[in-house]
Amino acid sequence: MTDSAASFSKLSKLEKIDFIASSFFKEPTLAKNVLQKYWNADEKLQQLHDDFIENTISNFYLPLGVAPHFSINGNEYFVPMVIEESSVVAAAAKAAKFWKTRGGFSTRIIGQEKIGQVHFAYNGASNELHDWFANCQSLFREETAFITKNMKKRGGGILAIELRNATDKLPNYYQLHATFDTKDSMGANFINSCLEQFAAVMRREADKLNGQLDVIMSILSNYVTNCVVEAKVSCSIADLKDKGIDDPELFAKRFKMAVDIARAEPYRAVTHNKGIMNGIDAVVLATGNDFRAIEAAAHAYASRDGQYRSLSFCELTDTRFTFGLQMPLALGTVGGLTSLHPLVKFSLELLKNPSAAQLMEIVAATGLAQNFAALRSLTTTGIQAGHMKMHLNNILNQLEANSEERKAVQAEFNGKAVSHAGVHEFIDKLRQS
Ligand code: MEV
Repeated sequence: MTDSAASFSKLSKLEKIDFIASSFFKEPTLAKNVLQKYWNADEKLQQLHDDFIENTISNFYLPLGVAPHFSINGNEYFVPMVIEESSVVAAAAKAAKFWKTRGGFSTRIIGQEKIGQVHFAYNGASNELHDWFANCQSLFREETAFITKNMKKRGGGILAIELRNATDKLPNYYQLHATFDTKDSMGANFINSCLEQFAAVMRREADKLNGQLDVIMSILSNYVTNCVVEAKVSCSIADLKDKGIDDPELFAKRFKMAVDIARAEPYRAVTHNKGIMNGIDAVVLATGNDFRAIEAAAHAYASRDGQYRSLSFCELTDTRFTFGLQMPLALGTVGGLTSLHPLVKFSLELLKNPSAAQLMEIVAATGLAQNFAALRSLTTTGIQAGHMKMHLNNILNQLEANSEERKAVQAEFNGKAVSHAGVHEFIDKLRQS
């Protein structure tokens, strides 16, 4: 075991599977069968997935669902969502349908700027560093020209390159802080390549300084404070009337209080934002974007004034209800997985092949829809009522219930709280009788 473990990455896919199955499973054949069941019969497609990461042994499926009814800036969308949690797609669709007849979602891009930093130590006089940096400016641009050429043709490139004195944070700590326009790509490779080239220039030119300069690292920042989108819905308070919203004025006030609680109280804000991310991550995944980057940025942004708060806001006037969301979303619609993964290509085509800005708008609207649906349920019926149907279905699937058993269980648990143990017991009794 130790030999194979040490050289695991060198083994072939089948050898890896043999090793894993025989080392960690009571029934190796069963373990191998599970992995193989999830392979794609189309060998080329399987190879494509094998090559996305390292040491691939199988595929891990997540459902791809579609939330219809989204009207965003007057355009209709069927939004693809990849998520394992039941009720999320239904909730998005329900909220989208509600808002479709009340003006739909309106969105605006606040910025699309990306950020990268070269972090370095310097122990000399900062005014001298300042002058040296000014002299390097043209070199930074000239020596990255081979990287920026194509991006420039697409209208993007390096925006600004600044020296930042960060010695108030850490002794001798300075940054080259650069901003970029990466057009429709997320731009991680582009930014990191530029930064490493800046760093190479800095290292080479460092002998012109009296102090010592040591480049520690060069990397993009996922905290994209100027790559921000806003999505909003708004209608007259009277128009909020709907099934389960008999008193729209009261609903609007309680809804606003729920949002305000999430602005004031971090314990609630985290769950509130988690609900927003249910929608955001699902579209981000479906469109082949990096959901870890999106998550990291969203939560840092939610804490930007020093306290973790809701990403959404609610405003009421005497007659009008407005609900909105503002958050950073560094997304791409070209590069990365977008042209490689067939389902990502499918999702983007379903969304009418959006630009990165349009995708930011669609994703933000989905997050807002999700948040609206959650708060509507929470402040009216409670969240469990909607979840119970799906929950019951999942339990019935697990227990491999046949159609008669399903009918009997549904009749028994109609309007009642559903628990796994309760359904199990009921089905056991049915099966015994
Ligand atoms: C569950 O995935 C998400 C909610 O908890 C969000 C919320 O509480 O606002 C329902």
